[in-house]
Amino acid sequence: MTVEQDWYKTGVFYEASVKAFNDSNGDGIGDFEGLRQKLDYIQELGITCIWLLPFYASPLRDDGYDIADYKSVHPQYDTLEDFKRLLAEAHQRNIRVLTDMVINHTSDQHAWFQEARRDPTSPKRDYYVWSDTDQKYSEARIIFTDSEASNWTWDEEAKAYYWHRFFYHQPDLNFESQALQEEMLEAMRFWLDMGMDGFRLDAVPYLFEQEGTNCENLPQTHDYLKKVRQMMDTEYPGRILLAEANQWPEDVRPYFGDGDECHMAFNFPIMPRLFMALRREERRPITEIMSQLPEIPVNCQWATFLRNHDELTLEMVTDEERVYMYLEYAKDPRQKINVGIRRRLAPLLENDRRQIELLNGLLFSLPGSPFIYYGDEIGMGDNIALPDRDGVRTPMQWSAEANGGFSQAAPSDLYHPLISDPVYGYQTLNVASQFQSEGSLFTWMKRLIALRKQLPILGHGSLSFLDCPNPKILAYLRSDGAENLLVVANLASSDQEAELDLSVYAGAAPLDLLANARLPQIENNGNYHLKLSPYGFHWLKL
Ligand code: BGC
Repeated sequence: MTVEQDWYKTGVFYEASVKAFNDSNGDGIGDFEGLRQKLDYIQELGITCIWLLPFYASPLRDDGYDIADYKSVHPQYDTLEDFKRLLAEAHQRNIRVLTDMVINHTSDQHAWFQEARRDPTSPKRDYYVWSDTDQKYSEARIIFTDSEASNWTWDEEAKAYYWHRFFYHQPDLNFESQALQEEMLEAMRFWLDMGMDGFRLDAVPYLFEQEGTNCENLPQTHDYLKKVRQMMDTEYPGRILLAEANQWPEDVRPYFGDGDECHMAFNFPIMPRLFMALRREERRPITEIMSQLPEIPVNCQWATFLRNHDELTLEMVTDEERVYMYLEYAKDPRQKINVGIRRRLAPLLENDRRQIELLNGLLFSLPGSPFIYYGDEIGMGDNIALPDRDGVRTPMQWSAEANGGFSQAAPSDLYHPLISDPVYGYQTLNVASQFQSEGSLFTWMKRLIALRKQLPILGHGSLSFLDCPNPKILAYLRSDGAENLLVVANLASSDQEAELDLSVYAGAAPLDLLANARLPQIENNGNYHLKLSPYGFHWLKL
C-alpha cells in the first residue's frame, strides 16, 4: 500500500462492527474471518477505509468500549492471527483500517484496575483517579444520564472513590501519570506495528481532570494528543488520528492543533442540523452552523456522518432545538436514550428514499470525508425492544436465507435477533436482493460513492453558500479555483423553485452529475431558474 499522506481527505469511510457483520464459524457472533469474507462487498461499495468498533478483550458491558486488555482480541471474534489476515487482505484491496482506541477509560476487569484496587501501594494505583470524597470535579457533567447518578463510584476493595465519565464499570485512566501516558503509546504502537492505519480516539475530551473546570478539552489533553501525533508522524507516517469530541465547533477546533494534533475530527454539530433542516424545510440550521465552523489546517479534515453505533446525539443543539428534534424524530418515548435518539437512518427518515438520498447527497458534498454506518447503505431498520443502543447494532442483512445469511447458528444462539418486521425484515431487505436491482438504495449509494471519488474538490475544495430567495432551497458551491461543483437541494416535501444568481457562469450549461444530464443554459444576465421535486437535488458541474 502506498503512503499517500492525505488519503483521508478524499476517503470514503465505513463504520463496521465485527460482531454484527458476518459469522464464519456458526456461533451466532460475527468474527474476523466473516468480515474478511465480505471484503468483496465493502470494495464493491467503493469504501476506502473501514473503522472497526472495539474488538479487544472485554467483559462487553459497553459493547467492547470497556477494554480489559489493549493488546489482545476478544476470543469471540477468533484470534489475533485472524485479525492480521483480515488487515492484510483489506490492504491488498487498497482499503485502510482504523480501530477504535478507547484511551479515556478501561473496564474494571482490566488487570491494571484489579491491581490498583487491591493494593494502594501498587504502581498501577496511579493509573486511575481516586478520591476520599465524591465531591471533587463537581462541575463535570454526567454523560450517561439514563444510567449514572455520579461520576464517582465507591470501591469497597480500594476503600476509595474512583472517577468515571461513562458507566460505573469503566474507571477513567489517570493521564497525569507519565507511566500511563507511555503505556497508552505502547498500546498504540502494538497495533501500528501490525499495520493498522490509525485510530478513532474514543471520548477524547475527557482525558484530564482539573478542579474548577468542566474537565473537558483541557490544555493538558491537547499536549498529550500532540505527543501521540508526534509518535505517529515519526514512527508511522501516513497513519491517522480521528477525534471523537462531541463538542461545539470552537471546542473541536483545537483537536486539529496547528495540523500537529488529530488529522480528523467528527463534525458533531452539523449532524443533527441536517435532520433538523429537513423537518423544518429550511436551510438555516445548516447554513448557520457551517458559517460557525472554523477554518482547519490544510492537512486536516472533518469526518461527517448521519448515523453511527450510538444514539443520534443531541448534545450539540440548544434546549429548544432538542425539544423539536424529539418531537419530530422520537415520537415513541422509548426511542430516546441519554441525550439522543436510538434509531437508524432509514426509520428516522420514514423509509423515504427521497429523504435518504437527499441527506446522503448533502453528506457526500459538504466539506469533510463521509462515514457510512454499516447497513445504512441498504436502509436497514432498528429494533426498539433491544436494550441500550443495541437496537441499531443488529446483524447485517445479507440475504433472505435463514438468519439473513449472517450466521449458520440456531436463531436462538445469535447475539441479537435479525430485524424481521414487514418493512425492514431481512426476508425482503437484504444485500442479495439489492444487488439484483438497478434501482436499489445500495446501487444508488455505490454510484454516489463512485462519483464522489471522481471529484477530489469535495475533499479539498472551499465552500460558499449561494443566496436564494426561497428559504427551502439550499445551494452551495464547492470549488478549488479550477473546478466547481454547485449543489442545489430542495429540503421540502413539495415542489420548489430555485432562483440563483450564477453570473460568473453565464452561458454555461450545467451538467447534472447524478442524473448524467445537461440542464438548460444559464442566461446571459446570470439568472438561473430551477424547479426541484420534493427532496430533489442536483450536483452540477459548471
Ligand atoms: C462510544 C460509545 C461508548 C462510550 C464510552 C463513546 O463515545 O461511541 O459507544 O459507550 O464512548 O466508551
